[in-house]
Amino acid sequence: MTADLPRKLAAPFPGIWDRSYVSSKVKTDPLYGAVYDELRTSPLPLLDLGCGLGLLAFYLRERGLEFPIRGLDYDPRKIESAHRAGAKLSHQALDFDTHDAREGLPEHAGNVTILDILQFFTPPEQETLLGLAAQRVLPGGKLVIRSALRDESWRFKVTVAGDLFAKASFWMKAAPTHYPTASDFERVLSPYGKVRIKPLWGGTPFNNHLIVLERD
Ligand SMILES: C[S@@+](CC[C@H](N)C(=O)[O-])C[C@H]1O[C@@H](n2cnc3c(N)ncnc32)[C@H](O)[C@@H]1O
Repeated sequence: MTADLPRKLAAPFPGIWDRSYVSSKVKTDPLYGAVYDELRTSPLPLLDLGCGLGLLAFYLRERGLEFPIRGLDYDPRKIESAHRAGAKLSHQALDFDTHDAREGLPEHAGNVTILDILQFFTPPEQETLLGLAAQRVLPGGKLVIRSALRDESWRFKVTVAGDLFAKASFWMKAAPTHYPTASDFERVLSPYGKVRIKPLWGGTPFNNHLIVLERD
């Protein structure tokens, strides 16, 4: 990642709040770099569920990955921001749409990402979404997830408090509903292929993990 990437990705967003969020997220959170490492050798199209402001798509383009990317989010304000930022950055083959992932998923065959959204779903909704996402991954492709894991750690308690704050400050439309455990992911995803789970909290106090399904 080049030193000016956080500033470049923040610049197209109109409000100071979004600009500060984007810049500090890209600087301090290891998430997008980890997804880049997982997907950089794959030519397959990407479906990004709960894409927010479209940051992952812009980050991957700025780092030279050219596969088509479709981002879906149920918050129209974020999708509108993603459209505006995308127009200013002038990248090709990026598509953002408003869609509630609890209402099923569109057709797709490639890679899929689900980053920091599962906590808004009930356990049955999480299971359904993971199954639908895994079915849209082509053999040799990946489902890349970041989620906080429910466990006994202090990190987990800080994660819950952080998500409640995001709701109270109106950054998120919803409060957290349920956090899955590592064994939930293994149980639901291992019928589709190999599952890897590793910590991905970087310099943050949150209990975030990267979960990767490599499809058979
Ligand atoms: C913490 S943000 C993560 C954004 C993005 N994945 C990223 O990592 O930059 C969670 C996102 O999930 C979206 N979201 C929550 N529930 C959703 C649902 N049912 N369908 C689609 N998007 C949802 C929110 O609007 C929000 O943009």
